[in-house]
Amino acid sequence: MLILALETSCDETAASIVEDGRAVRSSIVASQFDLHADYGGVVPEIASRAHVERILPVIRAALDRASLTLKQIDAIAVGHRPGLIGSLLVGVAAAKALAWSLGKPLIGVDHVHAHLYSGLLEAPDQSTIDHAFPALGLVVSGGHTSLYRCDSPTQLTRLGATIDDAMGEAFDKAATILGLPYPGGPNLDRLASTPGADPRAVKFPISRLAPDSLNFSFSGLKTALLYTVRGLPAPGGIFSRDHTNLDEKRRADLAASFQHAAVEAAVLKLNRAIDSVNADPAGREPLRAILTGGGVTANSHLRAALKSLAARRNLQLFLPRPDFCVDNAAMIAGLGYHLLQAGHTSDLTLAATPTTAC
Ligand code: KG4
Ligand code: ZN
Repeated sequence: MLILALETSCDETAASIVEDGRAVRSSIVASQFDLHADYGGVVPEIASRAHVERILPVIRAALDRASLTLKQIDAIAVGHRPGLIGSLLVGVAAAKALAWSLGKPLIGVDHVHAHLYSGLLEAPDQSTIDHAFPALGLVVSGGHTSLYRCDSPTQLTRLGATIDDAMGEAFDKAATILGLPYPGGPNLDRLASTPGADPRAVKFPISRLAPDSLNFSFSGLKTALLYTVRGLPAPGGIFSRDHTNLDEKRRADLAASFQHAAVEAAVLKLNRAIDSVNADPAGREPLRAILTGGGVTANSHLRAALKSLAARRNLQLFLPRPDFCVDNAAMIAGLGYHLLQAGHTSDLTLAATPTTAC
């Protein structure tokens, strides 16, 4: 079964064709990076206008790359929540028009849930996917940081989420504090990987929250970095220093120390979640795997930490390949396939929705 998926929730215009939820026949992503760089972040109105201009060429490119025509497509999937409303509307309107004109099913897909599926794309066979469940799911992106219990690709229960900044948002703000250009997360990762950068140079706080909490908090860590770089603010919020007072070694040490604390906080909550799910009195099967996704899973230190955590806890780890960590439409097509199999199709009343359902 061939699913054509569209993804326009933020600043990437993406289309992809995936066969049977696994074989990625094409995945096209038109990044708007250059349109937003001057502003240091995504400008919603610019993003939605760019989606309108790019959506049709991106769909055409996805069909051409897969050597397919629209008539060969079996269903249309679209990321319809969460995201920027103006951006989501473009993908949802295009997907409805395609589904209606082709007379094919329409499938609304939650973008955050789709991130969890991205590590299962290109699984060698369906039984690899079946054997991953029950799994613990971690989504760490620019807008979301959440933990899930996953009983199948479509049966997800949220166990915890950030109470303030998302992990990627904290990386982006930390990068700004350190004077790094947009996009902050990958640039901070690179700086922290400078040979000799010491992750223990500054002992930044690792957020724990209540002893049994599975929620995250990254704003204290961000503020700790801010005060380390700029000093305590004088009355009126005036800082006496900024990143230009740091030498290169100190900047790299601060990047590595920030990254270390952020990754340790994620690992701490994963360990707690594994213990809590496996101690579930409902006596369900113990966890078999960890599913991960979202832009921050491209982070080199987080990837290494997840690998050693999974090995220590004897769990299989599904880490997406780097281009499937960040926003893409292949993950929407992949999860869309399983939603269709489970009978979860949408009609033309499908709404673009800024928030996730769970
Ligand atoms: O999943 P994504 O593309 O968009 C959202 O759904 O939010 O994630 C983008 C986020 C940004 O905050 C970006 O800085 C972060 O992922 N990111 C990284 C890295 N690559 C992307 N953060 C840390 N290290 C990276 N290598
Ligand atoms: Zn995303």
